[in-house]
Amino acid sequence: MRSNCLPCALCLSLVPLFSWHDALGQTTSPATCLEKTELEIQRAPDRKNMRVTTSHLYKRHLARYFCPIAANWTVLELGVYHGHTTSVLAAIFRRVFSVDIKEEFLQVAAAHTKHHSNIVFLSADSLSDSWASFRNNHVDVVVIDADHTYDYVHADTLNSLRHLQPLTHLVFDDFNSEVGVQRAIEEFQSTGALVDCQGIGTGWNGSATKLISWNGLEGIHSEEKTVWTTKSEGMLCRKGVPDGVPRDLAPVFVDRRFFLYELPLTFPTPVGVFRFLPHGGLVVSKRGKGKWKMLDDQNLKLEIPGLSEPELLFNLDRTAFVMSEAKGAKTRWYGIRDHLMFRPFNMADQRFA
Ligand SMILES: *[C@@H]1O[C@H](CO)[C@@H](O)[C@H](O)[C@H]1NC(C)=O
Ligand SMILES: *[C@@H]1O[C@H](CO)[C@@H](O)[C@H](O)[C@H]1NC(C)=O
Repeated sequence: MRSNCLPCALCLSLVPLFSWHDALGQTTSPATCLEKTELEIQRAPDRKNMRVTTSHLYKRHLARYFCPIAANWTVLELGVYHGHTTSVLAAIFRRVFSVDIKEEFLQVAAAHTKHHSNIVFLSADSLSDSWASFRNNHVDVVVIDADHTYDYVHADTLNSLRHLQPLTHLVFDDFNSEVGVQRAIEEFQSTGALVDCQGIGTGWNGSATKLISWNGLEGIHSEEKTVWTTKSEGMLCRKGVPDGVPRDLAPVFVDRRFFLYELPLTFPTPVGVFRFLPHGGLVVSKRGKGKWKMLDDQNLKLEIPGLSEPELLFNLDRTAFVMSEAKGAKTRWYGIRDHLMFRPFNMADQRFA
């Protein structure tokens, strides 16, 4: 099934190229990169048969785009599943960081890719775990294929733009089937944070393709409903702003839920819930509607009924804040993102399986 699918000329050339390049640890030529990638593609199931992987065409488009330029590059893959795309990335890039929230996926992916020595698997929740784990590595490309809800895709994209260096390209999967992915990409495009986006995978040229409806629990193909789309399976974009994030993008804490705790923290029962709305609105449970205004990058001035001139200071990741009344007063409250509070339970929960 594997190598006999390849054209014969390719089979003949594979053996010598493989051995001496890999033995010397040298970067491979674009032609070798394409050949190695094709071998990995033949090992992977196509999306036709397995909804939760990317199509062979998507993988070939990645190879065609990156093989000529990325032999020395590092890619960060968010969302690994069974590692079929990971092994393609390992054939194209010099180094691969692969992150998934589920350890059982990482185990399957590690087994599938064990012939590669350039992959580091990491278990993390890209939404709640600190990007400090990744951001001190040189990363050229991020492949965003984790949770496809708008919240995750938006946060993964924003965090990538904010934290990864030098970062030149961002790749998105499930553009055609997930409105959350479409909405996030469109927003970043409209602010100029993503540019030159091109479709990859099925539907890349705008021709109509059938969306496979699937059984999410088992990850299998079912024929019950047929939906047609003219959107592409994936999107490949370049970073639009050389240094970080455009100014007019909504800050990362907007439209997120924070739990509020009173200090000193003796028992972790929240005393309230905070939600920062776009354009300066604020909703605080039990106290009602307020306002927020940025004083500088990390400090906000607030208006909250019943509090006198509250101010808050965010941490670098904007995942937590401390708050006090009036300038210079003692810190009275601690706010923290909902996902960070749930994270220990999610982590412990996995170990029951
Ligand atoms: C990759 O990096 C190595 C070592 O830094 C360098 O010798 C080689 O020329 C680079 N190759 C490409 C294609 O940039
Ligand atoms: C679009 O691309 C697909 C796959 O590469 C190909 O089969 C199809 O003929 C193309 N359609 C058009 C209109 O070019």
